[in-house]
Amino acid sequence: MNQAELAARIRRPELLERICTAREAADRLADGMLVGMSGFTRAGDAKAVPLAMAERAALDPFKITLITGASLGHDVDRVLTEAGVLARRMPFQVDTTLRAAINRGEVMFIDQHLSETVEHLRSGQLGVMDYAIVEAAAITETGGIVPSTSVGNSASFAVLAKKIIVEINLAQPLALEGLHDIYFPSKRPTRLPIPIVAVDSRVGLPYVPIDPDKIVGIVLTHTADSASNNERPDADTNAIADKLIGLLESEVAAGRLDLSLQPLQAGIGTIANAVLAGLGDGPFHHLKMYSEVLQDSTFDLFDTGKLVFASASSITLTAECAGRVFTNLDRYRDRLVLRPQEMSNHPEVVRRLGIIAINTALEFDLYGNVNSTHVNGTQMMNGIGGSGDFARNAYLSIFVTRSMAKGGTISSVVPMVSHVDHSEHDVDVVITECGLADLRDLAPRERARAIIDNCVHPDYRAQLEDYFTRASARGGHTPHLLEEALSWHQRRMSTGSMLAG
Ligand code: COA
Repeated sequence: MNQAELAARIRRPELLERICTAREAADRLADGMLVGMSGFTRAGDAKAVPLAMAERAALDPFKITLITGASLGHDVDRVLTEAGVLARRMPFQVDTTLRAAINRGEVMFIDQHLSETVEHLRSGQLGVMDYAIVEAAAITETGGIVPSTSVGNSASFAVLAKKIIVEINLAQPLALEGLHDIYFPSKRPTRLPIPIVAVDSRVGLPYVPIDPDKIVGIVLTHTADSASNNERPDADTNAIADKLIGLLESEVAAGRLDLSLQPLQAGIGTIANAVLAGLGDGPFHHLKMYSEVLQDSTFDLFDTGKLVFASASSITLTAECAGRVFTNLDRYRDRLVLRPQEMSNHPEVVRRLGIIAINTALEFDLYGNVNSTHVNGTQMMNGIGGSGDFARNAYLSIFVTRSMAKGGTISSVVPMVSHVDHSEHDVDVVITECGLADLRDLAPRERARAIIDNCVHPDYRAQLEDYFTRASARGGHTPHLLEEALSWHQRRMSTGSMLAG
């Protein structure tokens, strides 16, 4: 790289002297430290220093508490887990090796609403952050950090940490500059209202304002974000999308929404991405997103002219879509904003904008309680992510899932969920490929009827009907047979299937 390119990326000349190797940066960390690292749904993660931390730990073992925005790319969680670096980890992950270590009880994982982590940090509940390690597209003349493809928690990490290590990623386009809107809420309990009053509100700065003296190391990298690995839509996800479109059409017919709907939020993963993509086939137009992550489906909707604006905390794309978007950022720039996750997920804003929230369940029960995180109530999958931030405060809180998992040996609709992430009070509509249950303003027995009639797979319908009939005969506002409520999960563990013999 020539000097002019370097000067465009690091515009405060005195900081050029702080360029160092990833290993030199990693050597600054010490056992027991609290470290914040950039990265949100694989986007904008620190890429070189964490790998150097693992290398160092092989010779000089040390453990830290690691906080990120959300999940990381480049197998960083796997590498750090294998190196034994992670004592505690929050607030979200999707890595199979880390997941196994969490489930063995070796890494203490704190599964947290994504909007809340920095409130805990700011108020001192987590202690003082020793280092923020953040990826940036550039550093401004004033020392401000221009994030790359995610903001996540990086802005607050950089402001609150004692010291900052910046990874300037030359593979991230400089054209990202200007997409970010960095705003920090004022101090509680006299906090002013968050001034975001529309999806496209810009209320902050395009960079993270910090004291440049806190930057103790700058590492140059040249590695693209990990591509997202969502699977293509299939018959099930298309059927779920069709039912969602039908629901939204009926909201329009009832006069509660117009064809531009209200701002959309869609969760992570294959199902949410496919369902959002399916909205392109509906009659809707001038759609807006106020979400936490923008996946391929967002840009497909932009390209078909259906979507007019998208606000989020990160952009996570497949390799093919990333090639298309990041080489043509000017085409999208006026229609995009990237915010700290505290703002993209802020309950006040979600409630104000009347968001239509579409998140994914692992399982839900007769009454609409949702488990998004724990298989058999014990084994952590990924974490609650932002789903709770949105579900509780949305205009419409929708949960989608396939009706069965693992070749039909698991019903995603069960008598009682084995873990509750979203209680019945936060769940308006549940959708499987079999059908949709609109639970709004229904009493528990009515909710059960709607779910049995519409959502459960036919293989499990008689079994669930039988449970509900016998539970109802015993009475109660929310009828249950406590001795049987988790028997489906137990049966799957002992026989391999939830199906009764
Ligand atoms: N019991 C056990 N496993 C189940 C299951 C159940 N009831 N339902 C699904 N699964 C398994 C699937 O078999 C699949 O396993 P595999 O990876 O071995 O193939 C895995 O869970 C993922 O399911 P899939 O159907 O592919 O859906 P997904 O990729 O959309 O992920 C969640 C679904 C729930 C795991 C995912 O959406 C998630 O982590 N959500 C919580 C966080 C969140 O909502 N964040 C967004 C907020 S903005």
